[in-house]
Amino acid sequence: MSNVGVVGVQWGDEGKGKIIDILSNFADVVVRFQGGANAGHTIVAGGEKVILHLIPSGILHEGKYCIVGNGVVLDPEVFEKEVRELKALGYIKDDKTLMVSGLAHLIMPYHKKLDMLKESRGKKKIGTTGRGIGPAYEDKVSRMGIRVIDLLDKKVFSEKVKQNLENKNFIIKRYYKDEGFRPRDVIKSYDNYRKLLRKYTTDTVHFLHKSIDEGKTILFEGAQGTYLDIDHGTYPYVTSSNTVSGNISAGAGVPPTSIGYILGICKAYTTRVGEGPFPTELLGKEGDKIRKIGAEYGATTGRPRRCGWFDAVIVKRAIKLNGIKGLCIMKLDVLDSFETIKICVGYRIGKRLHTEPPMSVGDYYKCEPVYEEMDGWKASIKDSKKYEELPLNAKKYLKRLEELLGVVIDIISMGPERESTIILKNPFTKS
Ligand code: GDP
Ligand code: IMO
Ligand code: MG
Repeated sequence: MSNVGVVGVQWGDEGKGKIIDILSNFADVVVRFQGGANAGHTIVAGGEKVILHLIPSGILHEGKYCIVGNGVVLDPEVFEKEVRELKALGYIKDDKTLMVSGLAHLIMPYHKKLDMLKESRGKKKIGTTGRGIGPAYEDKVSRMGIRVIDLLDKKVFSEKVKQNLENKNFIIKRYYKDEGFRPRDVIKSYDNYRKLLRKYTTDTVHFLHKSIDEGKTILFEGAQGTYLDIDHGTYPYVTSSNTVSGNISAGAGVPPTSIGYILGICKAYTTRVGEGPFPTELLGKEGDKIRKIGAEYGATTGRPRRCGWFDAVIVKRAIKLNGIKGLCIMKLDVLDSFETIKICVGYRIGKRLHTEPPMSVGDYYKCEPVYEEMDGWKASIKDSKKYEELPLNAKKYLKRLEELLGVVIDIISMGPERESTIILKNPFTKS
């Protein structure tokens, strides 16, 4: 089985975009299966930086099919902008290679407004990306949502917008005391998106089934990370979709048996954007140093990312949750200048030692990390071409991670560029 799923095993921004771009060379089809424009996947190709929010990170490779799957919540405004910008850079030469599922739900202007209002007026904010993700998934689950296929039929779309706005305007005006939306304006503002999306909307589920039957190779692109998963993350400080590999099947419309290999992406340390518990967070100079060297600022919102040491407790669980067969260790170069490097191997709450993350968020905040310390390598690794060329202490660090996590490392990344990568095992070619 040659299809590969790629998921983040921390709190997002692990470097999924870079790895998906590299692996797209070996795939015929690349599919996003959850999330929306809250994602920010950065690719550095030929010295040029491209940040993708909605379109799969395989789009820089000519001739590869890229699919926005049914599990995604699609903001047409972001989609239009992304298509336009990619085309200006010379990508998407053939429109037939980009497909959007008619079953994907639309992000509407009122979703973005509600996201913003909830965050600014509520007592406990989540620190969302403000992209309307939560409110759009709420509508999907409550069966009020508007799908891409609905947009293509003006009458159906207009009816649904009117129905939705009766409810949304009530909440926006009466509860939040803010300005509502006129149905007419919302309907009109989506006219151009109808034209654009007509070109890309497809029965992507059928396309994927056909691709599987024809023996094509598929790469499933995860967004966010395991600890932002709506069930398995640090709830309520999570996103509103399942980010774990188990959702590939529902979010793309393929059977679980069609996915042969799950690759986990993690940084050599930990970062998080937004609110919520983060046991290994470094609030002082060391955290600032990681942020500075790693350029840890959000690709979607520009917010400074919170930084901390590698947390083996969460990553070990993520490996079990996702069925990770191999791991990519990203941004190892960021640790080049550290005298000592720490790995969290357990949490202490009071006198008790925990080796699994707590279920309650209250307990999560009480976790004191238990660290193992290792000597740093104090050398630049960005030009290493082979594993053997890495400094001894860098190899020791990687070996220790493998031991603690019980999984092999397939790929090591030492810089944002495609070239700064050591591939020990390619999940597509198995070599
Ligand atoms: P994603 O959301 O998981 O795709 O990750 P992001 O793109 O949000 O964040 C990862 C950032 O790290 C991007 O700016 C990448 O260009 C950069 N990056 C990826 N791999 C490496 C690496 O090995 N070293 C360094 N220094 N930067 C990297
Ligand atoms: P990629 O794919 C990092 C975080 C937000 C917030 C929480 C909920 O680039 O790894 P939402 O807007 O989804 O309702 O916000 O989730 N978040 C991310 N953090 N990387 C992401 O995506 C994220 N997408 C959402 O910061 O804490
Ligand atoms: Mg990101």
